[in-house]
Amino acid sequence: MSLTPADEAARRRTFAIISHPDAGKTTLTENLLLAGGAIRLAGQVAARGERRRTQSDWMKIERDRGISVSASVMTFERDGLVFNLLDTPGHEDFSEDTYRTLTAADSAVMVLDAAKGIEPQTLKLFEVCRMRDIPITTFINKMDREALDPLELLDEIQDKLQLDTSPLYWPAASGQRFAGMMDLRKNDFVQFRKRTADEALEPGPSPRIGMQEARGTIDSEVMDELEEGAELAREALPDFDPEAYAEGHMTPVVFGSALRHFGVSELLSTLAEFAPGPRPQTAQKSGDPVTVERSDKPVSGFVFKIQANMDPNHRDRVAFLRLCSGEFKRGMRLKTTSNKQINVHAPLMFLAQDREIAETAYAGDVIGVPNHGQLRVGDSLSENGNIRFQGIPNFAPEILRRARPKDPMKSKHLRKALESLAEEGVTQLFTAALGSDMIVGAVGSLQIDVMAERMAAEYNLEVVFEQASYNVARWINCDDEAKLEAFLDKNKSAVGTDLDGAPVYLAKNAWEVGYAQEKNPDLEFTTTKERML
Ligand code: G4P
Repeated sequence: MSLTPADEAARRRTFAIISHPDAGKTTLTENLLLAGGAIRLAGQVAARGERRRTQSDWMKIERDRGISVSASVMTFERDGLVFNLLDTPGHEDFSEDTYRTLTAADSAVMVLDAAKGIEPQTLKLFEVCRMRDIPITTFINKMDREALDPLELLDEIQDKLQLDTSPLYWPAASGQRFAGMMDLRKNDFVQFRKRTADEALEPGPSPRIGMQEARGTIDSEVMDELEEGAELAREALPDFDPEAYAEGHMTPVVFGSALRHFGVSELLSTLAEFAPGPRPQTAQKSGDPVTVERSDKPVSGFVFKIQANMDPNHRDRVAFLRLCSGEFKRGMRLKTTSNKQINVHAPLMFLAQDREIAETAYAGDVIGVPNHGQLRVGDSLSENGNIRFQGIPNFAPEILRRARPKDPMKSKHLRKALESLAEEGVTQLFTAALGSDMIVGAVGSLQIDVMAERMAAEYNLEVVFEQASYNVARWINCDDEAKLEAFLDKNKSAVGTDLDGAPVYLAKNAWEVGYAQEKNPDLEFTTTKERML
């Protein structure tokens, strides 16, 4: 029986993983893909040597494992559901990129290292989820190592994130003594045992046994601890409340060890049971506020990421479009709100190990739209071009650098390359009003390094990034054109434009911004800009 587009949309689960570096996101991703049947380990070289962080942790998986996991999104089916796992870059310097990816996710999995609890990056990413009310499932990883007391860990989540925790499982010890976890709802036991090398290649769910049998199998001291802990948890912590979870106030908790393939299947089952399908999206239709539901007929979506040169043999550029409604069919024509028409004749779907051409896609899915630079991050696409989703904001950069080519003849070439990376959303590009200096803005210094590397590798350009004479950039808003013009005129040496031509104030420091604000009360100097589409 074929499903209606609304049914298809309803079975999508689009999620991202958030964590502090080293908590095990890459290992968990790999194991989720294994458990979901999207990749196989057999025959792979486990060449885990160099572990440098690049733009995508998935690139790391590719390199380490010698397998191809297409960047940005992986799709797999399980329990009649279609899971779309979005890649969130791990390093804190890429928080803006991560923010944009989270706008495309309907829920998130928060991975914690059981020995460390909440770490700074976890907190930062969690705040982004909270801003968008994204429901979170918690996976407490590395239980095969000595862990903090589980109650303490859950207390920490409660305290630091103001998030109620509801453990669905309770662990039996940790480290060397780790024996598995009790399913607090079913009252049975998921057994942890080291797998043989053969089993590790095709890891299935861990065996479940009754509590009675567990009592006969597990070390009695561990069992006593487990029963006491589970009892305490049941008394002290709330039962799982799907509504509180959906609103982002409560997180279900699963324990496990991604490296030992333990708890991953249970995590997937938890997502299957509770993670929401594609959420309604706030938008404007022909200027009026509307909510776009996943069951709405017209196809619509927004671009949350652009990636250029994914395939070094192909100078392609792929826009990642998160669909919000309708049944997308290959070959469809979609329009941006500025009436640019895009023929999507070769959309990319990210099934299994290779890119495949998609025939159909539904709300919740992400498709890659190859294009030659017509699409930008934040663009809305729809059949009529009349739907505009809530923008994806730009954030004011924390680092500004003047870019110049080593070879002065290559200035034009450099501008084109910088524009291209700015369109991808890797860095921002500002042009000074006087002298047309190219000013690159980044959230962290790693972005500048990555950019220099990409310039060399993809554009054959040697670039020098110099200290600029300004350190702060703010967008300038003003309803009164004349006042804005007057300010720009008077401050020619300290203003410029961004990629969209929007005016920007380039100041030496925050004090200067405050001073300019005081002197120009009708102007607004902002740290974020919602792109007008
Ligand atoms: P990240 O993407 O969040 O940065 O973390 P990643 O998966 O790369 O994991 C960081 C380290 O933690 C890796 O060790 C990984 O093997 C280890 N790890 C992940 N999950 C578990 C787990 O459940 N138990 C244990 N004991 N370790 C785990 P590494 O030494 O940095 O790399 P490798 O040489 O082992 O690959």
